[in-house]
Amino acid sequence: MRPYTIVFSTETVDGRIADPTGFSQLSCIEDFILQHTLRARVDAVMVGSRTAIMDNPRLTVRLSSGWSPLRVVIDSKLRVPPSARVFSVPGKGVLVTVEGHSSERLLEYRRRGVVVVESGRGRVDLRDAVERLAGMGVRRLMVEGGGGLNYALLSYRLVDEVWVTIAPYVFGAGRSMFEGDKGIRARLALYYNKILCGGWVHLRYRVVYH
Ligand SMILES: NC(=O)c1ccc[n+]([C@@H]2O[C@H](COP(=O)([O-])OP(=O)(O)OC[C@H]3O[C@@H](n4cnc5c(N)ncnc54)[C@H](OP(=O)(O)O)[C@@H]3O)[C@@H](O)[C@H]2O)c1
Repeated sequence: MRPYTIVFSTETVDGRIADPTGFSQLSCIEDFILQHTLRARVDAVMVGSRTAIMDNPRLTVRLSSGWSPLRVVIDSKLRVPPSARVFSVPGKGVLVTVEGHSSERLLEYRRRGVVVVESGRGRVDLRDAVERLAGMGVRRLMVEGGGGLNYALLSYRLVDEVWVTIAPYVFGAGRSMFEGDKGIRARLALYYNKILCGGWVHLRYRVVYH
Protein backbone atom coordinates (compact mmCIF):
# COMPACT_ATOMS: atom_id res chain seq x y z
CA MET A 1 0.00 0.00 0.00
CA ARG A 2 1.25 3.49 -0.82
CA PRO A 3 -0.10 7.00 -0.13
CA TYR A 4 -2.30 8.89 -2.59
CA THR A 5 0.33 11.20 -4.05
CA ILE A 6 -0.01 14.70 -5.51
CA VAL A 7 2.93 16.53 -7.10
CA PHE A 8 2.62 20.31 -6.72
CA SER A 9 4.85 22.78 -8.61
CA THR A 10 4.88 26.24 -10.04
CA GLU A 11 6.61 26.49 -13.40
CA THR A 12 7.28 28.91 -16.23
CA VAL A 13 5.47 28.76 -19.57
CA ASP A 14 8.45 26.73 -20.87
CA GLY A 15 8.11 24.21 -18.04
CA ARG A 16 10.99 25.35 -15.80
CA ILE A 17 10.77 25.33 -12.01
CA ALA A 18 14.15 27.06 -11.57
CA ASP A 19 16.51 29.00 -13.82
CA PRO A 20 20.18 27.99 -14.25
CA THR A 21 21.17 30.07 -11.19
CA GLY A 22 18.61 28.22 -9.01
CA PHE A 23 16.17 31.15 -8.91
CA SER A 24 12.70 29.66 -8.45
CA GLN A 25 10.42 32.36 -7.04
CA LEU A 26 7.49 31.95 -9.40
CA SER A 27 4.42 31.89 -7.15
CA CYS A 28 1.90 34.67 -6.60
CA ILE A 29 -0.04 35.04 -3.36
CA GLU A 30 -3.07 33.02 -4.52
CA ASP A 31 -0.72 30.22 -5.57
CA PHE A 32 0.97 30.28 -2.15
CA ILE A 33 -2.45 30.03 -0.51
CA LEU A 34 -3.34 27.00 -2.66
CA GLN A 35 0.00 25.40 -1.77
CA HIS A 36 -0.53 25.90 1.96
CA THR A 37 -4.15 24.75 1.73
CA LEU A 38 -3.02 21.48 0.14
CA ARG A 39 -0.27 21.07 2.77
CA ALA A 40 -2.96 21.31 5.44
CA ARG A 41 -4.94 18.51 3.76
CA VAL A 42 -2.17 15.92 3.45
CA ASP A 43 -0.37 13.80 6.02
CA ALA A 44 3.13 14.49 4.68
CA VAL A 45 5.01 16.81 2.34
CA MET A 46 8.11 15.48 0.54
CA VAL A 47 11.07 17.25 -1.11
CA GLY A 48 14.33 16.12 -2.71
CA SER A 49 17.70 16.90 -1.15
CA ARG A 50 18.59 19.60 -3.68
CA THR A 51 15.36 21.51 -2.99
CA ALA A 52 15.90 21.20 0.77
CA ILE A 53 19.40 22.66 0.36
CA MET A 54 18.79 25.31 -2.31
CA ASP A 55 15.43 26.66 -1.05
CA ASN A 56 15.78 25.75 2.65
CA PRO A 57 11.95 25.54 2.91
CA ARG A 58 9.98 25.20 6.13
CA LEU A 59 7.13 23.22 4.49
CA THR A 60 4.73 24.32 7.25
CA VAL A 61 1.17 25.60 6.93
CA ARG A 62 1.14 29.37 7.40
CA LEU A 63 -1.30 30.79 4.85
CA SER A 64 -4.20 28.45 5.61
CA SER A 65 -5.86 27.00 8.67
CA GLY A 66 -4.96 23.47 9.69
CA TRP A 67 -2.05 21.44 11.00
CA SER A 68 1.36 21.23 9.39
CA PRO A 69 2.01 17.75 7.94
CA LEU A 70 5.09 15.55 8.40
CA ARG A 71 8.02 16.96 6.42
CA VAL A 72 9.95 14.34 4.48
CA VAL A 73 13.36 14.82 2.81
CA ILE A 74 14.78 12.27 0.34
CA ASP A 75 18.54 12.44 0.80
CA SER A 76 20.73 9.41 0.02
CA LYS A 77 24.03 11.08 0.87
CA LEU A 78 23.05 13.06 4.00
CA ARG A 79 23.73 16.33 2.22
CA VAL A 80 20.88 18.15 3.98
CA PRO A 81 22.28 19.21 7.38
CA PRO A 82 20.36 18.52 10.60
CA SER A 83 20.21 22.32 11.03
CA ALA A 84 18.14 22.76 7.83
CA ARG A 85 14.87 24.60 8.44
CA VAL A 86 12.83 21.59 7.35
CA PHE A 87 14.18 19.73 10.40
CA SER A 88 14.33 22.70 12.78
CA VAL A 89 10.88 24.27 12.78
CA PRO A 90 8.26 22.86 15.16
CA GLY A 91 6.58 19.65 13.98
CA LYS A 92 7.96 16.38 12.74
CA GLY A 93 10.75 15.95 10.20
CA VAL A 94 11.49 12.66 8.46
CA LEU A 95 14.82 11.94 6.78
CA VAL A 96 14.71 9.14 4.21
CA THR A 97 18.20 7.96 3.39
CA VAL A 98 19.96 4.75 2.39
CA GLU A 99 21.21 1.93 4.59
CA GLY A 100 24.82 1.98 5.72
CA HIS A 101 25.38 5.47 7.20
CA SER A 102 27.12 5.46 10.56
CA SER A 103 24.89 5.56 13.63
CA GLU A 104 26.84 8.65 14.86
CA ARG A 105 25.86 10.64 11.78
CA LEU A 106 22.22 9.54 12.02
CA LEU A 107 22.20 10.41 15.73
CA GLU A 108 22.78 14.07 14.80
CA TYR A 109 19.35 14.03 13.13
CA ARG A 110 17.64 11.86 15.74
CA ARG A 111 18.81 14.21 18.52
CA ARG A 112 16.74 16.94 16.85
CA GLY A 113 13.66 14.71 16.88
CA VAL A 114 13.97 13.76 13.20
CA VAL A 115 12.64 10.30 12.31
CA VAL A 116 15.25 8.49 10.19
CA VAL A 117 14.09 5.93 7.63
CA GLU A 118 16.77 3.81 5.94
CA SER A 119 15.62 2.53 2.57
CA GLY A 120 17.66 1.11 -0.30
CA ARG A 121 21.37 0.99 -0.99
CA GLY A 122 23.30 3.60 -2.94
CA ARG A 123 20.13 5.56 -3.68
CA VAL A 124 16.86 5.79 -1.79
CA ASP A 125 14.39 3.11 -2.92
CA LEU A 126 11.37 5.35 -3.54
CA ARG A 127 8.86 2.50 -3.85
CA ASP A 128 9.89 1.15 -0.46
CA ALA A 129 10.09 4.66 1.01
CA VAL A 130 6.48 5.56 0.20
CA GLU A 131 5.27 2.21 1.54
CA ARG A 132 7.19 2.87 4.75
CA LEU A 133 5.51 6.29 4.97
CA ALA A 134 2.12 4.61 4.52
CA GLY A 135 3.09 2.36 7.44
CA MET A 136 3.65 5.52 9.50
CA GLY A 137 0.06 6.60 8.78
CA VAL A 138 0.64 8.72 5.68
CA ARG A 139 -2.43 8.26 3.49
CA ARG A 140 -2.06 11.45 1.44
CA LEU A 141 1.34 12.70 0.31
CA MET A 142 2.19 16.02 -1.36
CA VAL A 143 5.46 16.24 -3.29
CA GLU A 144 6.97 19.71 -3.69
CA GLY A 145 9.83 18.88 -6.04
CA GLY A 146 12.25 19.37 -7.35
CA GLY A 147 12.34 18.09 -10.88
CA GLY A 148 14.58 15.10 -10.16
CA LEU A 149 12.36 13.73 -7.40
CA ASN A 150 9.16 14.46 -9.36
CA TYR A 151 10.57 12.59 -12.38
CA ALA A 152 11.70 9.59 -10.33
CA LEU A 153 8.32 9.22 -8.61
CA LEU A 154 6.39 9.54 -11.88
CA SER A 155 8.67 7.07 -13.66
CA TYR A 156 8.04 4.55 -10.84
CA ARG A 157 4.27 5.19 -11.25
CA LEU A 158 3.94 6.51 -7.73
CA VAL A 159 2.07 9.73 -8.63
CA ASP A 160 -1.74 10.01 -8.69
CA GLU A 161 -2.20 13.71 -9.46
CA VAL A 162 -0.16 16.61 -10.85
CA TRP A 163 -1.06 20.11 -9.70
CA VAL A 164 0.82 22.75 -11.63
CA THR A 165 0.60 26.51 -11.66
CA ILE A 166 1.96 28.11 -14.82
CA ALA A 167 3.54 31.46 -14.02
CA PRO A 168 3.80 34.18 -16.69
CA TYR A 169 7.56 33.80 -17.17
CA VAL A 170 9.95 32.10 -19.60
CA PHE A 171 13.40 31.00 -18.35
CA GLY A 172 14.72 29.36 -21.53
CA ALA A 173 16.94 26.99 -19.49
CA GLY A 174 17.10 25.46 -16.01
CA ARG A 175 15.40 22.58 -14.14
CA SER A 176 12.09 21.39 -15.51
CA MET A 177 9.17 20.12 -13.43
CA PHE A 178 10.01 16.50 -14.36
CA GLU A 179 13.74 16.34 -14.97
CA GLY A 180 15.21 13.02 -16.04
CA ASP A 181 17.47 11.48 -18.62
CA LYS A 182 15.39 8.66 -20.08
CA GLY A 183 12.07 10.33 -20.87
CA ILE A 184 8.63 9.22 -19.73
CA ARG A 185 5.36 9.13 -21.65
CA ALA A 186 2.79 9.95 -18.98
CA ARG A 187 -0.80 10.71 -19.93
CA LEU A 188 -2.65 13.26 -17.78
CA ALA A 189 -6.38 14.01 -17.56
CA LEU A 190 -7.30 17.58 -16.68
CA TYR A 191 -10.08 17.90 -14.09
CA TYR A 192 -9.76 21.46 -12.73
CA ASN A 193 -8.41 24.83 -13.86
CA LYS A 194 -8.35 28.32 -12.39
CA ILE A 195 -6.78 31.69 -13.22
CA LEU A 196 -4.83 33.08 -10.25
CA CYS A 197 -3.69 36.67 -9.60
CA GLY A 198 -4.89 37.73 -13.07
CA GLY A 199 -2.09 35.91 -14.94
CA TRP A 200 -1.09 32.60 -13.36
CA VAL A 201 -2.93 29.41 -14.49
CA HIS A 202 -3.52 26.62 -11.99
CA LEU A 203 -4.21 23.16 -13.46
CA ARG A 204 -5.00 19.85 -11.78
CA TYR A 205 -4.54 16.53 -13.58
CA ARG A 206 -5.03 12.89 -12.73
CA VAL A 207 -2.26 10.63 -13.96
CA VAL A 208 -3.56 7.93 -16.30
CA TYR A 209 -1.31 4.86 -16.13
CA HIS A 210 -1.88 2.28 -18.91
N1 LIG B 1 9.09 26.25 -8.71
C1 LIG B 1 8.83 25.24 -7.90
O1 LIG B 1 7.66 24.92 -7.64
C2 LIG B 1 9.94 24.46 -7.28
C3 LIG B 1 9.64 23.48 -6.34
C4 LIG B 1 10.68 22.74 -5.78
C5 LIG B 1 11.98 22.97 -6.18
N2 LIG B 1 12.25 23.92 -7.10
C6 LIG B 1 13.64 24.13 -7.55
O2 LIG B 1 14.11 22.91 -8.11
C7 LIG B 1 15.51 22.85 -7.94
C8 LIG B 1 15.88 21.52 -7.33
O3 LIG B 1 15.38 20.48 -8.14
P1 LIG B 1 16.32 19.25 -8.52
O4 LIG B 1 15.64 18.49 -9.58
O5 LIG B 1 17.68 19.78 -8.82
O6 LIG B 1 16.47 18.45 -7.17
P2 LIG B 1 15.45 17.66 -6.19
O7 LIG B 1 14.46 16.89 -6.99
O8 LIG B 1 14.99 18.57 -5.13
O9 LIG B 1 16.43 16.65 -5.48
C9 LIG B 1 17.03 15.66 -6.27
C10 LIG B 1 17.83 14.78 -5.35
O10 LIG B 1 17.00 13.85 -4.64
C11 LIG B 1 17.80 12.78 -4.26
N3 LIG B 1 17.28 11.44 -4.44
C12 LIG B 1 17.40 10.44 -3.56
N4 LIG B 1 16.86 9.32 -4.02
C13 LIG B 1 16.41 9.59 -5.23
C14 LIG B 1 15.76 8.80 -6.21
N5 LIG B 1 15.50 7.51 -6.02
N6 LIG B 1 15.45 9.39 -7.35
C15 LIG B 1 15.72 10.68 -7.56
N7 LIG B 1 16.32 11.49 -6.65
C16 LIG B 1 16.67 10.93 -5.50
C17 LIG B 1 19.04 12.83 -5.15
O11 LIG B 1 20.13 13.22 -4.31
P3 LIG B 1 20.89 12.08 -3.50
O12 LIG B 1 21.27 11.04 -4.50
O13 LIG B 1 22.03 12.79 -2.90
O14 LIG B 1 19.91 11.60 -2.51
C18 LIG B 1 18.79 13.93 -6.13
O15 LIG B 1 19.94 14.65 -6.49
C19 LIG B 1 15.92 24.00 -7.05
O16 LIG B 1 16.48 25.03 -7.83
C20 LIG B 1 14.59 24.46 -6.46
O17 LIG B 1 14.60 25.84 -6.20
C21 LIG B 1 11.28 24.67 -7.65
